[in-house]
Formats: sequence, structure tokens, C-alpha cells
Amino acid sequence: MFNPSLYVKQNNLQRRDAALVLQDLIHRMSWNQEENILDVGCGPGDVTVSVLSNYLPDDVTIVGCDISENMIKYAQATYENKRFKFRQLDVGNSNIWMNWDEESFDKIFSFYCLHWVKDLKQAAENMNTMLKNGGELVTLTPITHPFFELFRKIYDDPKWREQMKVMKTYDTIFKSFDHQEYLQVLESSGFEIISADVKERNYTHTSLEEFLEYLESVNPFVKRVSGNKLKELTEDCVKIMLQEGLLKRKKNDNVVHEFTTLTVHARKVKQAI
Ligand SMILES: C[S@@+](CC[C@H](N)C(=O)[O-])C[C@H]1O[C@@H](n2cnc3c(N)ncnc32)[C@H](O)[C@@H]1O
Repeated sequence: MFNPSLYVKQNNLQRRDAALVLQDLIHRMSWNQEENILDVGCGPGDVTVSVLSNYLPDDVTIVGCDISENMIKYAQATYENKRFKFRQLDVGNSNIWMNWDEESFDKIFSFYCLHWVKDLKQAAENMNTMLKNGGELVTLTPITHPFFELFRKIYDDPKWREQMKVMKTYDTIFKSFDHQEYLQVLESSGFEIISADVKERNYTHTSLEEFLEYLESVNPFVKRVSGNKLKELTEDCVKIMLQEGLLKRKKNDNVVHEFTTLTVHARKVKQAI
């Protein structure tokens, strides 16, 4: 998640799912002229610019924000112009306006980001603060994912425990993403839930090599190892995934992984306390 070029090369799954969510929800949202839109956890910005913006009216301005400086630098260098801006922001930070002039948004979208945020309550309050009254929020998060299971197994292996001890600080991995708790957090942060849609999904990678690049592109823990250790970690990941049935071999070298997502559409009804 810190290598923008690799991420852009291997994010067809994320592009597909953002498009599916937008196709379903965009016509159920109310639109005014010249809206200001925020994409939380925009990564390298390609989903913001070449997926999200395709579904929005032409007169919107769009801001992408991400905790990762690498991602934001890449997005700024590649896409920033009058219509698209990119800013570094930790959505789970209690002081979001520290490096950013106060700004409010008509809509907030967030695709495949919130499961990485340690303080979801703070993130929900921040998104509420950043939205105008009546503004709408759309979030897409995995609620079950083979990587959650994989990371738990890697952490359990004494060989990796020391280097991977940071994994323990990610609740989504160790407790899984709690669907009901997330909805309650949104409600107690001033949102009304319009819809919450759980879907079983899968994705077919054309080869094991392609899958491994995908895994590396979304795995924030790989930066803790390099060289032969990275090779060994990758081999262990594949072994665990195949043994545990988290990754299935199909015809023509294809491999498939399955996961469940939660898409939430909510509206700001009052200011977070
Ligand atoms: C899997 S990527 C998704 C990127 C893009 N939305 C997409 O759909 O391709 C998750 C992104 O969330 C960002 N992220 C993780 N924690 C965050 C936080 N606390 N605040 C803002 N962004 C965060 C990561 O840096 C990463 O770029």
C-alpha cells in the first residue's frame, strides 16, 4: 500500500468494485450544482480520477486524501489540476485540520480504506465534520477477506512474530471488521444509514505471479522485510493460502480468492458531538 506504481498496476479488483458500487448508488443520491467531493483513502488517485469522476456530474470538484505521503505525491504529480486536488490526511486523526484549511464537502466516498483505520469512531466523526448538513457518505469495505486470515497465521508463526508484531495493532485483522459495530459508530457520529449492503465477491487472477503482485501491492507489512526475507515471506504466504483454501487454483493457471464486502450509503443528519 506504499508503492503507488505497483498499486496502479494491480488494482483491477478495486477499480471493478468501485465501479459496481457507483453504478448501483449514484442515481439514488441527490445532486446540486458545483458540488465538492472527497475521496477518503484515494491511494495513487487513479480510482478517483478514472473511476469515481466518470460517475459524477461534470461540474464537481474532487479532493482525494490519503494517509500515505508516497500515494499523495504520486497522485499530485500524475493527476492534480483545477478539478482534482490531493492532500495528505489521516482520516482517523483527532486533529484533521492541522495541515489543511477547513473545507466542507457535499459527498464523501471511500473505497477499500476504512478497514485499515485504527480509530473508526474518530474517522466517522471526522467524515461527519467534513460533510455539509444533508451530505452523503458512501463507503466500501471488506468485512471478511482471506488476507485477514493470512495475516493472523503469519503473526502466529514465531519466525515472523518479531517483524510482524505491528499486525496486532490492526483490529480489523485480529477481530475482523465488525459490520454492526461500524453501522452503530456511524449512527452515533451523526449519520442516518440509508442502505447497508453485504455482498459475496471473488476475483480471478490470471496467474499466481499476478496474485503475488496484488498481495504485495495491498500488504502494508511487506515493507518490514526485503531481499531473501521478502522472498521467504511470499513463499510462506502462498503456502498458507493454498493449504487453508484461501486461494483456489483453477484452469489455465488462474487462481481465485473470495471475500465479502459491506457497502454503506449514509446521510449526515446532525453534527458529530
Ligand atoms: C487498498 S487502498 C485503496 C485505494 C483506492 N481507494 C482504491 O480503491 O484503489 C487503501 C488506501 O487507504 C489508505 N489509508 C489507510 N489508512 C488511512 C487513514 N487512516 N487515512 C487515510 N487514508 C488511509 C492507504 O494509504 C491506501 O492508499
